[in-house]
Amino acid sequence: MCLHIMGGRIIDPGHYEGTGDIVVVDGRIAAVIPAGSPAPTVDASKSFHPAPRIVDARGRIVTPGLIDPHVHLREPGFEHKETIASGCRAAVCGGFTAVCCMANTRPVNDDVSVTRFILARAAEAGLARVYPAAAITMGLEGRVPCDYEGLKAAGAVAISDDGRPLLDSRLMRRALEKAARLKMAVISHSEDPYLVEGGVMNEGPVATELGVAGIPNAAESIMVLREIALCELTGAPVHIAHVSTRESVKAIREAKKRGVPVTAETAPHYFLLTDEAVRRHGADAKMNPPLRSEKDRLAVRQGLADGTIDCIATDHAPHAPEEKAVGLEKAPNGIIGLETAVPLSLSLVSEGVLSLSALIAKMSTAPARILGIPCGLRVGMPADVTLIDPDLEYTIEPSLFRSRSRNSPFLGMKVKGKAVMTIVAGRIVFEDNL
Ligand code: DOR
Ligand code: ZN
Repeated sequence: MCLHIMGGRIIDPGHYEGTGDIVVVDGRIAAVIPAGSPAPTVDASKSFHPAPRIVDARGRIVTPGLIDPHVHLREPGFEHKETIASGCRAAVCGGFTAVCCMANTRPVNDDVSVTRFILARAAEAGLARVYPAAAITMGLEGRVPCDYEGLKAAGAVAISDDGRPLLDSRLMRRALEKAARLKMAVISHSEDPYLVEGGVMNEGPVATELGVAGIPNAAESIMVLREIALCELTGAPVHIAHVSTRESVKAIREAKKRGVPVTAETAPHYFLLTDEAVRRHGADAKMNPPLRSEKDRLAVRQGLADGTIDCIATDHAPHAPEEKAVGLEKAPNGIIGLETAVPLSLSLVSEGVLSLSALIAKMSTAPARILGIPCGLRVGMPADVTLIDPDLEYTIEPSLFRSRSRNSPFLGMKVKGKAVMTIVAGRIVFEDNL
C-alpha cells in the first residue's frame, strides 16, 4: 500500500510549509519532498513501491489529519441521534482523522467497559480515530470520582463531565492533580449550573424579545475563573471547552500571561453567530453555552487571533429532528458541526483573522498537543492527512450530511472550501465526489 500525494500546498504547522509531494508507505509518512528537489518525484516514490497510487493534490492544501477535540458520538445509548460509525463517517467527510468523544452517553463512559466498547466500535467502523474522554465523576453526577488510571489503561486520553458542569471544586482539584500525574487532559464544561438553570439562550435583548429566560455571560466566566484558580493552586493543566464570552477570553488571556497552564477551545458557531441567529433558526441555534452578543463574538475572534484560544472544536452534538422540533424552550442543547467546520473555519483566513497555517494548527497540532496524541507530517509518523480544496464553493445542505442528525443553523449557507480527501493510517477513508 503506497500513496504518492503530488504537488499540494503542504502545511505542517511549525515544521514545513511549501509545495511538494508526500509519499505514504505502509500507513506511515515515508517522505516529504519539497517541489524542485533534485529527485523526479514519481520516481522517488517508486523507490518505495513499484506502483504507488498517485493522488493529484495540485491546488489543494495538504495538512496533518484534522483533529476535533470535542464531539458527542452518542453511542452507546442514543443511536437514533448518531452512532460511532455514523459520527466517524461524518468526521472523515468533514476532513477529521481523529475525534475526542465526550462521556455523556448512556451508560456514561465512567467505566472501562464503556471505554473499551467505544474503541471496539470505532475499530469496526475503521474510519476516523476515536479518542474517548472518560467522565470525571461516576454517572456525571459530580460526586464520586472515576478510576482514571483504569480508564487511561483502557484507552481514555482525557476526562470530562462535559454536558454537565462539575460543581464540587475540591473534587475538581483532585481530578486535576490525578489527571496531571496520569498525563490525561481535563476538559472543563465551564458553566455555573445555578446561573444556567431555566435559561434557554443568551441573556440579553433577543431573549427578552422572544420572551424566554436567559443565561448570563457570568455563568461561564465564574467557572472559567474557578478553573484558572484551581490550575494555579495545583499547577495542573486544564482545558476550557467551548469558550463563548468576552469575559472568559479575557480571563484566559490574563492567566496565560501569568504562566498558568490553561488551554481553551471555541467552536465555529461562537465566532460566526450571535444570539440573533436564534430568531431565525430557533432550536437549531440552541446550545450550551449559548450563542452570545456581537461583542462576545468579536472577542472570541480576537482570542483566536492572539493565541488565547488554542484550538477549534466542533462540539458536534447531534439530536434527532423530532427532539429539536418541540420548541425553543424544551428542545435539547447542541448542534452538529463535523461536516461544516472546515469551510466555516476557513472564513477566518479569508477575513484576515488567522493565517492559513495558524488555522490548520488550531485544528490539528494544537488539539493533538492538548490531548497528548500524535499529529504531523514528519517522516515515520502515522499517515493521517487531510486534503482541502480552498476554492470549492457550495451550499451547506442536509443531503450532504453523513451524520444521522440535521440540527445545524448553517443549512442553506453558501460557503467556500471543503475537505476533499481524508487519509487515516495511509488509507483513503473519504474522497469527495461532489
Ligand atoms: O450544547 C450542548 N450539547 N452542550 C453540551 O455541553 C452538551 C451537548 C450535548 O451533549 O448535546
Ligand atoms: Zn460542553
